[in-house]
Amino acid sequence: MIQRQQEPRRADALHNRDRILEVARDAFAASGDASLNSIAKQAGVGPGTLYRHFPNREALVLAVYRHDVQQLADSAPLLLDEHPPLAALRLWFDRLAYYGKIKHGLADVLHAVTSDGLAGETYGPVIGAITLLLRACEQRTEIAAIELNVSCPNVKTGLDIGADPIQLERVLAEVRPATGKPLIVKLTPNCANVADCAQAAQDGGADAVSLINTLRALALAPPGAPALQSSRPTTWLGGGMGGLSGAAVRPVALAQVAAVAGRVSIPVVGMGGVQSATHARQLLDVGATLVAVGTESFRNPAAAAQIAKELICELAPG
Ligand SMILES: Cc1cc2nc3c(=O)[nH]c(=O)nc-3n(C[C@H](O)[C@H](O)[C@H](O)COP(=O)(O)O)c2cc1C
Repeated sequence: MIQRQQEPRRADALHNRDRILEVARDAFAASGDASLNSIAKQAGVGPGTLYRHFPNREALVLAVYRHDVQQLADSAPLLLDEHPPLAALRLWFDRLAYYGKIKHGLADVLHAVTSDGLAGETYGPVIGAITLLLRACEQRTEIAAIELNVSCPNVKTGLDIGADPIQLERVLAEVRPATGKPLIVKLTPNCANVADCAQAAQDGGADAVSLINTLRALALAPPGAPALQSSRPTTWLGGGMGGLSGAAVRPVALAQVAAVAGRVSIPVVGMGGVQSATHARQLLDVGATLVAVGTESFRNPAAAAQIAKELICELAPG
């Protein structure tokens, strides 16, 4: 009897909780400063109901984030049920990008409460979803190889998982068995010892490593330019921190490619500030097997092809 009375109440409470999470997610995506009272109002509940479920702002932000990560992870098998594997993979990455946008709105608060525990908690389901999709796409010839980017310096809540050799090996332990395709690990330069990370990637079964990714950097708004963040008036980048690339990182790329090539036996894809055949040659000279061109391609989309052509001439005997 008591149970019968409680069930509708529990269903109401769950409904309210879900509704608050839904509204809060959109509100935070639009503005990290959204007030809890306005969220309660939009969700059609009183402030007391909101505070009963989420005693403070941090609790609500974390709940929204956990809810989203779980939804993202849960969507992988559903997409695979409804679409061919390649389409499901694309749709899932669209969702990942959308959740990235929401996460951006939550970033300031998330940043304040982010802990290793939260990172560990969210990587599990996301990596589970990725491995499920990779397994489903294993027979698709459109995917020639997989590059696993284990760093993301240009988002506020980005964590360089690749900076920790132990964490990197853990990720590879999940991803490696999911695919027989060539697996390239994109290393982060934002770490204590990039050769240790490359070694961990090789030990974890990577077929190649690529480096360097961008260096974590900050740009301040020049005088008179509109600042993008009200909370940090002088920050000029939407994500707060950004990634430095191009000519400025070339010496770092040379040093890190040399260190990695001296440590591992798998191929090394070198990049960072390559603008000419001479720059490409320097990376090959310190041990790169292949060279990639990033930033320069924005200035000249034909840069990579031109550099390859020049390099062939430069390397030709006589
Ligand atoms: C606008 C831009 C976007 C980038 N996006 C990614 C990315 O999504 N994944 C990744 O692994 N590296 C990304 N990078 C890093 C490049 O792949 C490359 O590692 C880095 O920029 C160094 O090479 P570069 O100096 O030739 O650009 C990006 C770089 C730039 C400039």
